[in-house]
Order: sequence, then structure tokens, then C-alpha cells
Amino acid sequence: MTRAPYHSSSHPAQTMTAPPAEESPAVRHRRIRSYVVRPGRMGPGQARALAELGPRFVLPFRAESVDFAAAFGRQAPLVLEIGFGMGDATARIAAARPETDFLGIEVHPPGVGALLKRIGELGLENVRIVQHDAVEVLEHMLAPASLAGVHVFFPDPWHKSRHHKRRLVQPPFVRLLASRLAAGATLHCATDWEPYAVQMLEVLSAETALRNTAEGFAERPALRPLTKFESRGLGLGHGVRDLVFEKR
Ligand SMILES: C[S@@+](CC[C@H](N)C(=O)[O-])C[C@H]1O[C@@H](n2cnc3c(N)ncnc32)[C@H](O)[C@@H]1O
Repeated sequence: MTRAPYHSSSHPAQTMTAPPAEESPAVRHRRIRSYVVRPGRMGPGQARALAELGPRFVLPFRAESVDFAAAFGRQAPLVLEIGFGMGDATARIAAARPETDFLGIEVHPPGVGALLKRIGELGLENVRIVQHDAVEVLEHMLAPASLAGVHVFFPDPWHKSRHHKRRLVQPPFVRLLASRLAAGATLHCATDWEPYAVQMLEVLSAETALRNTAEGFAERPALRPLTKFESRGLGLGHGVRDLVFEKR
């Protein structure tokens, strides 16, 4: 089962230029985006949810650290989800764990509308959204050691070798992620693209601030809901890999 990247890879805004020689690997990595925002129509229900619920649940990107206790109106563990897509897993996990706050990041506008619609339908209070590049959100809005967990479910696999540099799970990004996790917090990644799963295992295992909670790949944690897409793939014999690492 291969999940195509949500977005086409030929968007003009994504033209890559060679970075100046003095840039650090982290800065260079940041310039190569892991996504392409494709034009996508928002359905009427999503647009209504955006108009009605956006002001309350969507936080604007700010290049400064944010007080999430104030944003959620309470003090609670904060879990970040990167690239929530249409927000199906986000909404289901948030509904199952009302004691935890969830910050979902996604750049695809209809996805933001779709998650807001689910927030309205389920009456969720513990979700906030930022519609922006997750790398910049991590760098600027989230303080070091502030997260109780991170979910990266089915990130764009970028199948072609010339696009591998766009994959999110790479050493500089993982270093940044690890710095935002509190001691003992977990980083949970899942993918159905085996070569990317192998890359994830290598990169996460090489990050000294993290410890693998399993021998290699993990069993699917019960908290990650099985999506319709995934169940269909599993029925066809396609595999999904989960990786669960802990911040030392
Ligand atoms: C293949 S989809 C998976 C969506 C969802 N997690 C799921 O399992 O259905 C990957 C999503 O990550 C988003 N994405 C990729 N890079 C991102 C980034 N740097 N910041 C925010 N979102 C990103 C894309 O827009 C896309 O919607």
C-alpha cells in the first residue's frame, strides 16, 4: 500500500535553490519544505466550520513562544500532531483523551476546515490548530521541553529519490523535535511506506536524546486509531510500521 503524497511535487513555489555555503544543516533543511500546498476546494461544511470555529480554535502563527495554558484555558499535558491531514485521527484521539490538550499542525486549508468540522460535531474543547509549516512552529512557538508527546502519522513519503530530501523525518528535524519534548515524553511516528519506515528507524535511533521503547518497530499503540484507508490496506496484506521513541 503506497500512499501518494497529498500534494503534487511540481508547485512553482517549491523551486529549490542552492543555499549559501555558511548555512547550518538545520537552516538548509528548513528551506526544503516537506509539503506543497495544492489548491484544494473546501466543502461548504468545512468553510462554515472555518468561519464559525476558526476564530476560537485556530491560533495564528507567531514567531514567538506561546502560552498554551492560556490558549487552552487550562494547564494540561500538550501533545503535538504534525500534518494531521483531514484530522480524523486527531479528533478521535482528542475525544478519547479529554485530559490532554492537542495542537494540530497542517498546511492544507481543507484539512483545517475538516478538523474544525469534527471539533464542532464532537464538541471537542482540547484541540487547537496552527495552519503553518510545522518546522517553524516548533522553532518559534513551542518552548524547549514543553511537549508531552508528538504524533507524526503517515507523513508524505516522497517516493522518488530526488525528493527524499523533502521527507520530514531527517536528523536536523528530529533533533529539533527532541528538544521540544519533555523528559519521558514520546514521539510516535507511523508510515505505510517501508523504505521510509527504515529511514525513520535509522534516524530516530541515531538521535542520542531519544530511546526506542521497542526492539526496532513497535506494535501499533491502541491510541492510534485504525483509519479506513489503513484497514483496507491491511486487508490487502500491506504493512504499517509504528515507531515509538521516548525522550531521555
Ligand atoms: C500524507 S498526509 C497524512 C495525513 C494524516 N496524518 C493521515 O494519516 O491521514 C501528510 C500531511 O502532512 C502535511 N504536512 C507535510 N509537511 C508539513 C509541515 N512541514 N507542516 C505542516 N504540515 C505538513 C501535508 O499537508 C499532508 O496533509
